[in-house]
Amino acid sequence: MFENPTIAILGLGHVGLPTALGFSELGWRVIGADDLREKANQIRAGVAPFYEPGLQDLLNSALRSGRFEVALNVQSAIENSDVIFVCVGTPQNEDGSADLSQIEAVGRLIAEHANSNKLVVEKSTTSVSTAKRLKDMMEKHKNLNWNIDVAVNPEFLREGTGLKDFFEPDRIVLGIESDSARDQLVTIYSPLLSKMDNENTGVVTHRNAKFVITDLNTAEIIKHASNSFLATKISFINTVADICDKVGADIVKVAEAMGMDPRIGPSFLNAGIGFGGYCLPKDIKAFSKIGEDFGIDMGIFRAVSSVNENRFIPVLDKLKSSLSGLNGKCGAIWGLAFKPGTDDIRESPCVPIIKGLIDQGISVHLHDPEAINQFKKVMPRKPGLVEYFDSPEQAAKGTDFILITTEWQQYLQVNLSNIRDTMSNPLLIDCRNMLNPTHVRDAGFQYVGIGRPFLDKPQ
Ligand code: UDX
Repeated sequence: MFENPTIAILGLGHVGLPTALGFSELGWRVIGADDLREKANQIRAGVAPFYEPGLQDLLNSALRSGRFEVALNVQSAIENSDVIFVCVGTPQNEDGSADLSQIEAVGRLIAEHANSNKLVVEKSTTSVSTAKRLKDMMEKHKNLNWNIDVAVNPEFLREGTGLKDFFEPDRIVLGIESDSARDQLVTIYSPLLSKMDNENTGVVTHRNAKFVITDLNTAEIIKHASNSFLATKISFINTVADICDKVGADIVKVAEAMGMDPRIGPSFLNAGIGFGGYCLPKDIKAFSKIGEDFGIDMGIFRAVSSVNENRFIPVLDKLKSSLSGLNGKCGAIWGLAFKPGTDDIRESPCVPIIKGLIDQGISVHLHDPEAINQFKKVMPRKPGLVEYFDSPEQAAKGTDFILITTEWQQYLQVNLSNIRDTMSNPLLIDCRNMLNPTHVRDAGFQYVGIGRPFLDKPQ
């Protein structure tokens, strides 16, 4: 075990950068590296490459402290560190399986450039047995003088709360094959636990209180199963919401009452337009593929993906039943990011909805507090068809309806009474059930939610 290890973080994306800055905040020396030179230079210059609450401030303090630096390349980060966290992307292959090429490429680099004993920690979400394959590959290619141990430490960071999730973990899962790997990782995380205990309880509980110590494969499955279950809860409640729409029940009350059962829990029961992001959509497909490759019926998980990929249909149906014809209409879309608190639009449910509207001959006025620049890369401005606005109020002007697609707190502050008369038609479709239907109706709008069949006409 290294007494005062230098930590390398390979891959400075939504997982790697919060993790690197978190470890440096805990007092460890951290070397970050990313093979995207522009991103590495940006971070070295003190500019966070994406929006995440608190990230820019933590980057500033980490660089000032001297405990965080960005290596010129991945090789030098490997050579100058003891514990190497692999945080590279695992995008989706055509067949839904995880593309592990970045993991394998990093494994080869570590084997080739290991100049001392190393502990390699897989933090990226990977298919079960990847760590074992990584270990075998590195054993085959490494310099025989050095020992390379492998562990799995999956991340449970949510975008928008990544730093909070790092500093206040529900659990820290460690898949290990040696006592030294276990002790090393418990040591690396222990300042976090003692800090949290002192602040929250004043009693320093046993160091392992938050740790789940297990083997490599189990640690990988824990991650995939956790994400797949979260996705399942969301598609479950969305299906129930569609039933509520048909029978005139209120999904918000249904979810509230369900969540009172501790076996169900209140989280992840918000009906809407489904789950997006770089994780849930691809992780449940990768998990499905893993099961199917072993001949296991993964129908339940395939259904979760299928429900999620068709969420734009009920939204279009609501528009068709609320407007006399869609062609030539204009709609304001409030929210482009896949969730509030991030500028990330990867797999955002807003994309298929907006494309579906345009296919129906509808022009769109787009707004998002953070994600407009990212969204413009996938959907450039087209005069008269796709327009971007700096405020929700400006976006709503002259439109036939408003769709709330991402539940940014900012939208709760909009004075609907003031914008009603600037619109051609006061219709608001709340795709995230974030507003109070009565307030919307009192402002003179027709309110339509998801699983909240209030098709009230303005008073
Ligand atoms: C997820 C997991 O939560 C996290 O543990 C893992 O490490 C990475 O993947 P993330 O994708 O960042 O995190 O965001 P999350 O808060 O899980 O939301 C994912 C999607 O589900 C978003 O599009 C969100 O709008 C949607 N969602 C979430 C719902 O539609 N309903 C809900 O009740 C909760």
